[in-house]
Amino acid sequence: MGVFILILASLLALLVVPVIALNETQTRNSCTVTSYSQVDTAVGSCSDIVISGIEVPAGKALDLNLKDGTKITFDGHVKFAYAEWDGPLVHIKGHGITIEGTEGHVLDGQGALYWDGKGSSGKTKPVFIRIETTGGSVANNINLLNCPIWCASIKSSDLIVDGWTIDVADGDKNGGHNTDGFGVQNSTNTVIKNSVVKNQDDCVVVNYGSNLHISNIDCSGSHGLSLSVGQGSTYYMNTVHNVTFSDCNVKSSLNGIHVKTHSDGGEGEITDVTFQNINFSGITRYGINIQEDYANGGSTGTTNNNVPIKNLKMTNVEGTVKGSSSMAVYILCADGGCEDWSWSGVDITGGHKSNSCNFNPSGYTC
Ligand SMILES: *[C@@H]1O[C@H](CO)[C@@H](O)[C@H](O)[C@H]1NC(C)=O
Ligand SMILES: *[C@@H]1O[C@H](CO)[C@@H](O)[C@H](O)[C@H]1NC(C)=O
Ligand SMILES: *[C@@H]1O[C@H](CO)[C@@H](O)[C@H](O)[C@H]1NC(C)=O
Ligand SMILES: *[C@@H]1O[C@H](CO)[C@@H](O)[C@H](O)[C@H]1NC(C)=O
Repeated sequence: MGVFILILASLLALLVVPVIALNETQTRNSCTVTSYSQVDTAVGSCSDIVISGIEVPAGKALDLNLKDGTKITFDGHVKFAYAEWDGPLVHIKGHGITIEGTEGHVLDGQGALYWDGKGSSGKTKPVFIRIETTGGSVANNINLLNCPIWCASIKSSDLIVDGWTIDVADGDKNGGHNTDGFGVQNSTNTVIKNSVVKNQDDCVVVNYGSNLHISNIDCSGSHGLSLSVGQGSTYYMNTVHNVTFSDCNVKSSLNGIHVKTHSDGGEGEITDVTFQNINFSGITRYGINIQEDYANGGSTGTTNNNVPIKNLKMTNVEGTVKGSSSMAVYILCADGGCEDWSWSGVDITGGHKSNSCNFNPSGYTC
């Protein structure tokens, strides 16, 4: 008994004494999670969490509502078992969070088990990852594989997303649909950069937000770099302000750049959006497609100026479109729906159909 107490006491001493002596870095409570059952405890008590090679059970989320300043690292093969539900499969919330992936790790959504070619209208598929952070958070080097449907939903302020790979290329031949790469909602002062997206819907799509910079993204197989605005329930949720897309490549995609406003949606506005240094190749439909007639998932031909587009700049947008339905530039504005667009260095070749524009940006002859 005495020996036991002695051992216990020395264990306690080991636990307690160093903490007092250590500096801030050393006191970071570091925990490695190797099974799903350990997640909640780690989230509740650790400030440096490694999620290593776990399988997340069907219908469960990796729910990471983190304490301020937490660092979370994904490591190994993290797999999400199949269940028909909305997700998200990973939900990260917090302030001043550092999110990282180790080299070679993967978050595997097992998309092939869900893909039915119908995207959001087929069986229910979970959103893969949602990041809702504030206060200077970063999310570096995350590898998403085979999203069931929408890949990354970003709803953050002061976030930098850097060095991601979103690979849903398997969905090309296997019924992947609505697998948007980065979807941005309700975000401000947020950067998405140096990332690769291979998928079957928008590469990056901004629904609402402000002060966003999207740069150095390599997109393939996608529907392009997009704004899709007007489906929110308030003016704020239909507003995009001060967004720059720069230094991006869009390859083998349906569109290069796609700005659509939902003509059956609420009022809002798109202001001060810039696309600069964007390259296209192998675009099969529209190089640049800007339309104010979008409803129920498609073009209607009936425009509405509920979300006017003001100060839309394009600088050095160049490349090729190809195929029998390809067109370099398509612009369909509502009456009074488009104002003050200045374009320079827009040079898109290879269109089989002539451009169609009912509004002329300054600096570009349609
Ligand atoms: C804390 O300790 C670590 C490891 O000894 C050291 O690298 C670091 O500089 C120290 N930090 C501070 C703020 O003293
Ligand atoms: C948008 O983000 C702000 C914080 O930046 C938050 O207070 C608000 O609830 C969010 N709104 C929605 C609709 O998510
Ligand atoms: C526009 O957004 C960028 C971030 O992309 C920011 O640096 C800049 O200050 C913003 N401009 C204004 C006028 O708010
Ligand atoms: C676009 O293509 C041009 C010419 O091939 C090249 O100089 C430029 O670096 C490319 N831009 C990007 C963002 O890759």
